[in-house]
Amino acid sequence: MTKTMMKGFASALALTVGMSAAAQAADVEVLHWWTSGGEAAALNVLKEDLASKGIGWVDMPVAGGGGEAAMTALRARVTAGDPPTAVQMLGFDIQDWAAEGALGNLDATAAAEGWDAVVPTALQAFSKYDGHWIAAPVNVHSTNWVWISKAALDAAGGKAPETWEELVALLDAMKANGITPLAHGGQPWQDATVFDGVVLSLGTDFYKAALIDLDPAALGGEQMAEAFNRLIKLRSYVDDNFSGRDWNLASAMVINGEAGMQMMGDWAKGEFLKAGKVPGTDFVCIRFPGTQGAVTFNSDQFAMFGIEGEDKVAAQAAMASAILNPTFQSAFNVVKGSVPARTDVPNDAFDDCGKKGMADLAEANTNGKLFGSMAHGHAAPAAVKNALYDVVTAAFNGEYADGAAAATALAEAVAAAQ
Ligand code: BGC
Repeated sequence: MTKTMMKGFASALALTVGMSAAAQAADVEVLHWWTSGGEAAALNVLKEDLASKGIGWVDMPVAGGGGEAAMTALRARVTAGDPPTAVQMLGFDIQDWAAEGALGNLDATAAAEGWDAVVPTALQAFSKYDGHWIAAPVNVHSTNWVWISKAALDAAGGKAPETWEELVALLDAMKANGITPLAHGGQPWQDATVFDGVVLSLGTDFYKAALIDLDPAALGGEQMAEAFNRLIKLRSYVDDNFSGRDWNLASAMVINGEAGMQMMGDWAKGEFLKAGKVPGTDFVCIRFPGTQGAVTFNSDQFAMFGIEGEDKVAAQAAMASAILNPTFQSAFNVVKGSVPARTDVPNDAFDDCGKKGMADLAEANTNGKLFGSMAHGHAAPAAVKNALYDVVTAAFNGEYADGAAAATALAEAVAAAQ
């Protein structure tokens, strides 16, 4: 444990032993990238929950899915010696900051509330560093989803696709019906989100070998060539204005009937719900065809930075405690589109897609088919992730002769980044 972590640890311990967190807590300054309509609605659930406990909120929003821009802003704040109180963070980024000794310690709160027993181990791998709790998980999202307009699906025959071939047939039918088959925003993290599903659709062993184990043979081999060919095929179903479009505007295209479907994590459901749309009636949620039974997950966690001031450390502990509260986990995730980061939260309040998300997660976990999302920082550290992003985006934009050339480039880029 580093000195900074020790300091955080000591203060957190003093907190539980000596005083009441809420009574002594300062405001929290929170850095996050929840800026879309659905995300803001979910964020409000958190803000209001903290307000009810006497904890004020100082907002530091930095837009951009996947959190790349937020992480750049964070680096600047830490370099200036002024880190925010709490920071939305994903997977390997949490571990990287912990390794730098920048994070506080939540062990006392975690022990008092029994987090070890209720937070899934796949999440604990990122919430803990060197055996100590350093972040509070607020949800579990997954990326291998497709959100389909019910009206567009019905007009194209009504059957949700279960295989790659059926998916292509549906996209063709939607094209013939005069709508944009695939709503997409051309930003590297969105291209990578689609790629998560495409790679997983070629097998769970392949996903693990290529994107988790970074096996050069899997990264540069025939299956990867096929994955890129599928990605390049999907590119043919997006509209001309896709470049740079924000993900929530792509969701809006499906919501308003302009497009047939979007391949996106379940934060997209937050946009549908915010627009008053009902699962099963207005839209259909399916796993990316060929990935049924498997899940590529990412979990938003709030990492607490090692900061001075007992009142601030008290606020961090109080915020972490509020986030892990089972009632809050239900209320928040119902709005966010994600599922709870605890295994003991009932599914009653969730809609059909949320219930499916919870069941899929449990099933994938039991069957060894639960994997970290490459696109959202749960498969490899940032340097490797960025190398993957570059090749995936170049491939999506037609910069390689074919899938095989892209696969070769991918293996080279990952080798260079390690
Ligand atoms: C986060 C989600 C967020 C999405 C789009 C993901 O990386 O995990 O919470 O809604 O980005 O902003």
